[in-house]
Amino acid sequence: MVTKDQLLGYLKEKSGSWISGELLSNKLSVSRTAVWKHVCKLKEEGYVIESATRKGYLFREPSDVLTPYEVGAGLDTRIFGTKDIVCLKETDATNLRAKELAGSGAPEGTVVIAETQTMGRGRKGRTWFSPYREGIYVSIIVRPEISPSAAPRMTLMAAVAVAEALDSLVQLKVKIKWPNDILVNDRKLAGILTEMSMEMDEVEYMVVGLGLNVNTPARSFPEEIGGNATSILIETGERFSRVDLIQAYLKCYDNYYEILKRNGFAPIMKRWKEFSDIIGRRVTVDVIGKKHIGKVVDIDDDGVLILKDDQSRFHRIFSGDVCFTQT
Ligand code: BTN
Repeated sequence: MVTKDQLLGYLKEKSGSWISGELLSNKLSVSRTAVWKHVCKLKEEGYVIESATRKGYLFREPSDVLTPYEVGAGLDTRIFGTKDIVCLKETDATNLRAKELAGSGAPEGTVVIAETQTMGRGRKGRTWFSPYREGIYVSIIVRPEISPSAAPRMTLMAAVAVAEALDSLVQLKVKIKWPNDILVNDRKLAGILTEMSMEMDEVEYMVVGLGLNVNTPARSFPEEIGGNATSILIETGERFSRVDLIQAYLKCYDNYYEILKRNGFAPIMKRWKEFSDIIGRRVTVDVIGKKHIGKVVDIDDDGVLILKDDQSRFHRIFSGDVCFTQT
């Protein structure tokens, strides 16, 4: 284990009480100056550590900082989070960073996380509001052995993993809106952006990016999205640990990926449908400006929405924005 992580371990063990620089330098077999330099680095990462002459250092919990140490601690997954966990204080977009890594050969299971994004991207060229240390912005690299036509399944699977993680940690009634918006009380709590690179007729890699509003207060949201967006803080009145939520998501994703390989997509689609109330509902689906109105008959095993319009014609819709309609 690297010295900085060892130091963090000691400080956490004695959380809430002072620990002298001398004791730390003895335990770590480094100079007191080196201890101080590592403490500075930890503070830069966002940990709250006080220092005082003659007293030493005092670690204050909880910090909820996103570092490889925190996210990886006790994470018992098979693939996701077992490789590199890249944690950035700021980046343009975690999907872009993950695509760069995947393009240079980073393995499946690599995770990229940021405390904030300056150019967070959503579906259909939209932006994703990414305030510093309030939300989760995470992208994972997947190298599934599937054909490009089956790729939408990976996005639906991510939506199920998010819903499942939220279901297990936060007492909220979470719904999935096709294809992969996570809603609470009809407002958007999380979104998924999947990007793919193909080689011949095969998927070379996929980057699955999740944006989840965790501790964002209502006043933080820009006016234009405020009415449609929500956060866990807004819905529950409580702040939640982003580390716990990321770990729960990675575990659920890991678990469903295993299920996908062993049993195929059917059990995942079944779970997706349990989290969604779209089947049988009357909707308007906007497909690049063209509106389809009708009743949702089903979501098929590839995740395609089957719509029956008012003239009883059936439409297979691969991608679009859904709005529930009354008439
Ligand atoms: C949507 O439009 O609903 C999808 C939003 C996806 C946002 C996440 S945040 C982490 C990752 N990096 C990005 O730039 N976008 C995704």
